[in-house]
Amino acid sequence: MGESKTGQVSDEAARVYDEFYVPALFEEWCAVLVEATQLKKGHRIIDVACGSGILATTVLEQLGDECSIVGIDSNEGMLDVARTKTARIEWRNASAESLPFEDASFDAVLCQFGLMYFEYREHALQEMMRVLRPGGSLAIAVWDKLENNPGLAAEERLWQELFGEEAADDAPYSLGDKQVLRRLLTSSGIADGEIITRKGRARFASIESWIHTGAKGWTEDDAMSDAQLDLLLQKAQTDLVSFESDDGTVEFSTSVHIFVTRK
Ligand SMILES: C[S@@+](CC[C@H](N)C(=O)[O-])C[C@H]1O[C@@H](n2cnc3c(N)ncnc32)[C@H](O)[C@@H]1O
Repeated sequence: MGESKTGQVSDEAARVYDEFYVPALFEEWCAVLVEATQLKKGHRIIDVACGSGILATTVLEQLGDECSIVGIDSNEGMLDVARTKTARIEWRNASAESLPFEDASFDAVLCQFGLMYFEYREHALQEMMRVLRPGGSLAIAVWDKLENNPGLAAEERLWQELFGEEAADDAPYSLGDKQVLRRLLTSSGIADGEIITRKGRARFASIESWIHTGAKGWTEDDAMSDAQLDLLLQKAQTDLVSFESDDGTVEFSTSVHIFVTRK
């Protein structure tokens, strides 16, 4: 179904992603990557697979006008959303596997929840190291295994029970096994660096908002009919009720691997 393996979304899904997914699931990790790379004023920074721009714009807010920031992504819809936020960041349509920059041209390379979707992950990692200057920092975030992300696992089960095994979207968790991630880093020529597992918190306004975001803010939005979405919403109200608080909001713990190295 859809473009789940490569994480390619429609223009409309990019807007829903930015408005609902980013605050619910992705935004909190920006501060973690910024801290891990010890960014400083005057640095030149690249956000690889920047999506709708949350990480690059967070870097801009923290470092201000003295730094130079580039965000690259292969999805024009995501970049269009990012461009509405600021012109202070250079937003470019480019593939992570072929970064259009000179060797050693960045002080820091950041990549948040993108690596799992790259077709040639080793090339992308080699590219990230190539554009990094000696002594510069690389930080990458990927989802931990589904079994360590209970809310996301419950959402996956719901989709599979209604739409069958082929509805399973395991791409986001494909680097959740630390050994798999370490092997990929090693085969890409990255021998040093630490993988730290951090816990986070997902927050949606309601079960309905959670399901709507999953259905309309990612790769399946075109594939899902209104009738299917209704079915999903109905079943979610019972199957996901354990994640609902008294006030109707939804919260669950998340788990993410952060890889950090210096060149
Ligand atoms: C889950 S989103 C993460 C976006 C953003 N980093 C964030 O934290 O919100 C994954 C992004 O990877 C991008 N992507 C997938 N394959 C890519 C590739 N080969 N080169 C560049 N971007 C890619 C998708 O277009 C999508 O915007």
